[in-house]
Amino acid sequence: MKIAVYGASGYTGKLMITELRRRGFGAVLSGRNAERLRDAVEAGVTDVEVRPAGTDDESALVEAFRGCDAVINCAGPFISVGEPVVRAAIAAGCHYVDTSAEQLFLQRIFDTYAEDAKRAGVSVVPAMGYDILPGDMIAHLTAERVEPVEELTIAYRVGEFDMTRGTIRSAVEMIKGGDLVYEDGEWGRGGIPAKRTSFAYPGDSEESPTVRWPGAEIVSVPRHVRTHRVEVIIDAAAFTPEMSALLQSPADEVDMFVSGLPEGPSTDRRPAATFTVAEALGDDGRQARGVVQGVDIYEITAVIAVEGVRRLIDDGAIGGVLAPAQAYDCAGFLDFLAPHGTTWNVAITS
Ligand SMILES: NC(=O)c1ccc[n+]([C@@H]2O[C@H](COP(=O)([O-])OP(=O)(O)OC[C@H]3O[C@@H](n4cnc5c(N)ncnc54)[C@H](OP(=O)(O)O)[C@@H]3O)[C@@H](O)[C@H]2O)c1
Repeated sequence: MKIAVYGASGYTGKLMITELRRRGFGAVLSGRNAERLRDAVEAGVTDVEVRPAGTDDESALVEAFRGCDAVINCAGPFISVGEPVVRAAIAAGCHYVDTSAEQLFLQRIFDTYAEDAKRAGVSVVPAMGYDILPGDMIAHLTAERVEPVEELTIAYRVGEFDMTRGTIRSAVEMIKGGDLVYEDGEWGRGGIPAKRTSFAYPGDSEESPTVRWPGAEIVSVPRHVRTHRVEVIIDAAAFTPEMSALLQSPADEVDMFVSGLPEGPSTDRRPAATFTVAEALGDDGRQARGVVQGVDIYEITAVIAVEGVRRLIDDGAIGGVLAPAQAYDCAGFLDFLAPHGTTWNVAITS
């Protein structure tokens, strides 16, 4: 099994290479800058290949992916960098997964590449990181207990989360780029406040203030859950004064500020706890609640993406663009993450 990692010079790309080698899979490092790719290869490592190619040269990208079984794309922000990599993976006959969580990117991939992927007989599964796969899957598992669903809420809480430079850049793109709403079978432009303004997170006796979040589940979940509405919210505490100030700044100031930050959290700062909670209200008034809890967003993202391509290659999946919950057995995939600190449960609450 040979897997190409695009954006292999980045914080997450390097974790992908480590995970591929831990699993005993062949790794090809790809990205726009040959020197940074070579720097990403740890001293003494000889069982990886380096194949540089920029996103502005699609034939070079196709050649870089040629002979690989799958591509894991970690180069972001995806809305500006991602599409040529998707096209090249399909053209090279490779399955494709990525670590995107950007709503508008996901919508574009579903809208544009479904037929091409189907014709090529490959599966394209975006959003295969800790953010969004658990949210997409727990929404599916929760909703199926009360389907058809009137209202589905996905609520995030992240504690002590040190972001990488790439995550900050993507988050700024997500928030500034506008968002989508899903209601009664249609996606429309968002920009409106959340219906839900507070939420009781696991272990809390009181509700905490929440705000609307442009989660990619708005795009992925309606493809596999029958629901009138989907809303994604986040604990309002995530919007620190520093984050709010960054979002008001012009793009060049954001870029300069982010470039001066460390690449990402040190290993001992990584294991921040996260909760993703899905609440589904059925048309008949029954309510179900599902919770996924995990640690170390970056390491688990590498575990998820590598297992994701392994399953596509070994077990097969239908060709086309798929949400995580369409490509895999949800309970089986979340169970696979248990040794890496992920737990999940679903219960009928009323
Ligand atoms: N969903 C999740 O849970 C999750 C988890 C982890 C990461 N992510 C996402 O993954 C992405 C990468 O994160 P990171 O932490 O690895 O960031 P990072 O350390 O800043 O790395 C960014 C990578 O993207 C490449 N890149 C940037 N612009 C490019 C361009 N125009 N053409 C080609 N390559 C380009 C960089 O290449 P150079 O080295 O040449 O600059 C580098 O390899 C972000 O979008 C982040 O949000 C998501």
